[in-house]
Amino acid sequence: MAHLFTPYTLGDVTLRNRIAVSPMCQYMAEDGVVNAWHHGHLGTLARGGAGLVVVEASAVSPEGRITPGDVGIWRDDQAEALAPIARAIEAAGSVPGIQIAHAGRKASANRPWEGDDHLPDSDPRAWQPIAPSAVAFGGNLSRPPREMSLADIERVRQDFVSAAIRARAAGFKWLMLHFAHGYLAQSFFSPFANQRTDVYGGSAENRARFLIETLRAVRAVWPENLPLSIRLGVVEFAGDDAAMLAEALAMLRIMKQDGLGFVDVSMGFNTPTARIPWGPGFLGAIAGQVRRETGLPTATSWNAASAPQLADAIVRQGEVDLVMVGRPLLADPHWPYAAAKALGREDAAAVLPPPYAHWLARYR
Ligand code: FNR
Repeated sequence: MAHLFTPYTLGDVTLRNRIAVSPMCQYMAEDGVVNAWHHGHLGTLARGGAGLVVVEASAVSPEGRITPGDVGIWRDDQAEALAPIARAIEAAGSVPGIQIAHAGRKASANRPWEGDDHLPDSDPRAWQPIAPSAVAFGGNLSRPPREMSLADIERVRQDFVSAAIRARAAGFKWLMLHFAHGYLAQSFFSPFANQRTDVYGGSAENRARFLIETLRAVRAVWPENLPLSIRLGVVEFAGDDAAMLAEALAMLRIMKQDGLGFVDVSMGFNTPTARIPWGPGFLGAIAGQVRRETGLPTATSWNAASAPQLADAIVRQGEVDLVMVGRPLLADPHWPYAAAKALGREDAAAVLPPPYAHWLARYR
């Protein structure tokens, strides 16, 4: 039976354990280019022992950033700046992954700790967000986006393709398409955000079209033997979750046939009216259902690692193949070591690199 510290292989990639660093925006880039902050942050997390490190949502185009501080991957120099990070992750024994993203109607915002709302029009850094329909998210993100034309849709799909090519060139081996959290792709899927009357709106099949077409286009350029994953919101907690989950499962079955290799199960965040039942591991059972009913390997996050025993249990129970760990790693970048100790592993120190592990195992 697999557990949190069992290696995991997908395609040509083997992770040393089932702990993955969840993508976490730092909002610290300048003009989309990573800097010393990201080098320190990601290098530390890789040295902390996770099997996979997924670099934060990296925007496929300038208007696809959430904030002016987002990492970008729409230019070659941005990808070149990411390459040493991919190398450092690999040198620490982890697998370098990256999430590529478009923020849709949630774009042009302040950093979370500077307001978490849309930049005012008067701010010279503000820009016009685009989305499937000219419908604002609401709440703190009230700016109406511009409805995308068919040419916009084609261009953004191509932006994802170009970003995937750059990510590979930069040395990343695990690609995650950000199809969750109310950003562009998720908003195409959601009736809350998508009110189009053309082939990209209306029926579930039409609302899935942008996501499926983007996945297919990326699949065509991403190496066959390297993991291609998506993060997808499959529930909203804002009403009809059974219907949303059924639509998501149907879409995932199509995507699997199209070459999707892995799904990170998350939430829709398409409306500020959602009533989320926060609690330890509350998405585990849903991830398990997605895994069983699609046959795709899964991961999940959101308090899935609030205790090492919980993270271990959802792997043992067959609900997920990987646990995406976010905030516990902000609190303790060596969380995998703490987890190994908490789970009673004799060789706990061995999750860390030798310059640390040697000393932790010695003089005991
Ligand atoms: C996030 N999250 C997130 N999700 C995502 O898909 N792309 C991203 O870039 C980010 N950025 C981000 C930044 C920060 C600071 C946090 C705390 C979170 C969500 C994150 O990946 C994860 O799903 C959640 O934090 C839930 O997992 P934990 O924190 O409960 O382990």
